[in-house]
Amino acid sequence: MEILVTGGAGYIGSHTCVELLNSGYDVIVVDNFSNSKPESLRRVEEITGKHLKFYESDILDKAILEKIFSENNIEAVIHFAGFKAVGESIKTPILYYHNNITGTLILCTEMKKHNVKRLVFSSSATVYGMPKSVPISEYFPLSATNPYGRTKLMIETILQDMYSSDKEWSIAILRYFNPIGAHQSGRIGEDPNGIPNNLMPFITQVAVGKRDKLNIFGGNYATHDGTGVRDYIHVVDLAKGHLSALEKIMKTSGIEPYNLGTGVGYSVLDLVKNFEKATNKKIPYVITAPRLGDIAKCYANPIKAKTILKWSAQKNIQDMCIDAWRFQVNNPNGY
Ligand code: NAD
Ligand code: WQD
Repeated sequence: MEILVTGGAGYIGSHTCVELLNSGYDVIVVDNFSNSKPESLRRVEEITGKHLKFYESDILDKAILEKIFSENNIEAVIHFAGFKAVGESIKTPILYYHNNITGTLILCTEMKKHNVKRLVFSSSATVYGMPKSVPISEYFPLSATNPYGRTKLMIETILQDMYSSDKEWSIAILRYFNPIGAHQSGRIGEDPNGIPNNLMPFITQVAVGKRDKLNIFGGNYATHDGTGVRDYIHVVDLAKGHLSALEKIMKTSGIEPYNLGTGVGYSVLDLVKNFEKATNKKIPYVITAPRLGDIAKCYANPIKAKTILKWSAQKNIQDMCIDAWRFQVNNPNGY
C-alpha cells in the first residue's frame, strides 16, 4: 500500500517512515528540506534496508503535488510538513499561516481531486491552550496562545468542515504531547538548527559540551518541584501511533482527534535527573524567569488512543534519555 508522507525527512516523519517501511508499506516522501536534510532519508533506508521514493518539493507547489498523485497509487497521506517553532511564529506569522495552512489546503485539494480521502494529520497538545486541569482529554476546550498554535487549530477546523461536506473523508487528528528521544540505532534523531527551543535537544547539547548550562524557565510553578511538567513521549512510540491511526482510517470514515502521550508528567528537573542517571553526565543549570506563554502542567489522558487505536506508549523516560543521548554522541554536529 502506497502512503504519501509530507515532511517525511523531519524528526517525527523520518521515524514514522522507518516504522512504515518495516511494516511493509510503500513510502513516498515529499519534503523541501526547509528544516531537515536528505541524509535523514538515506539513513531511513539504511536502517530498514528498504527503498523509499522521494520528491524534493514544496507542498505549496500545486503542480508537483498533481504530479505526485498522478504518478503513484497513493491510498493515504500522513501530513507532517509544516513549521513548528512557537517563537518564530510570533515573529513571522504570515510565513507560518501560509506554509502550514495554505500548504494543507493545497494538499487536501489535490487529495480530493485524486480521490484520496484518508489523512493522518500532525496536530499538537498546543491546541488545548491553557488547560484548566490535567490530564487533558480530547473533549477539553480548544484555544491557542500563539500563531503556530492557531495554525494547528485552524487546520483542525478546516478538516472538520471538509469532513462535514464530504463524509467519504477518513481523518485522524493526532495531538502530540512532547516528543523526545531517537531511534535506537542512533542514526536518526532530532537535529535542530541553531539554539534549540525545546528542552531535550538543549540538554543533550549541554551534555556534549556545545552549551555551558541549561536555563530552566521558571522555578515557582505549582508543581511538585516548581518547574514545568510535561508529557514526554518517545518518538518511536509516537511513530508507531501513526501506524495505528493509519490502520484505523483505512477501515472507517469520519474524523477523530487522538492524544498521543504517555499520560505521565515529568518536571524539567525530573528530566534533568533522569538524563544524568541514564548517561552519567552532569547537566549544570540555572533557574531563570518563566518563558512567556508557558504553562505549569501539561499531560495527556491517553485512554482514547488506547481504546480505539489499540495504541499506547511503551518506552519510559530512561529509554528516551538514553536514545536521545546516543543520537547526540554519534552525531555531535547533527546530520
Ligand atoms: P520537523 O521540522 O523536523 O519536520 C517537518 C518537515 O516538514 C521538515 O523536514 C521540513 O523540511 C518539512 N517542510 C516544512 N514545510 C514544508 C513544505 N512547505 N513543503 C515540504 N516540506 C516542508 O518537525 P517535526 O518535529 O518532525 O514535526 C512534524 C509535525 O509535527 C509538524 O507539523 C509539527 O508542527 C508537528 N508537531 C511537532 C511537535 C514536536 O515537538 N516536534 C509537537 C507537536 C506537533
Ligand atoms: C518543555 C519544558 C519549558 C527549554 C513545545 C511547543 C508545543 C509542542 C512541543 C509543537 C517547559 C522548559 C525548555 C529550555 C526549559 N510543539 N524548558 N529550558 O514548551 O512544552 O512545547 O514543544 O507542537 O507546541 O510549545 O516544550 O521542550 O520547549 O519545553 O526550562 O531551554 O522545558 O519551560 O516547561 P513545550 P519545550
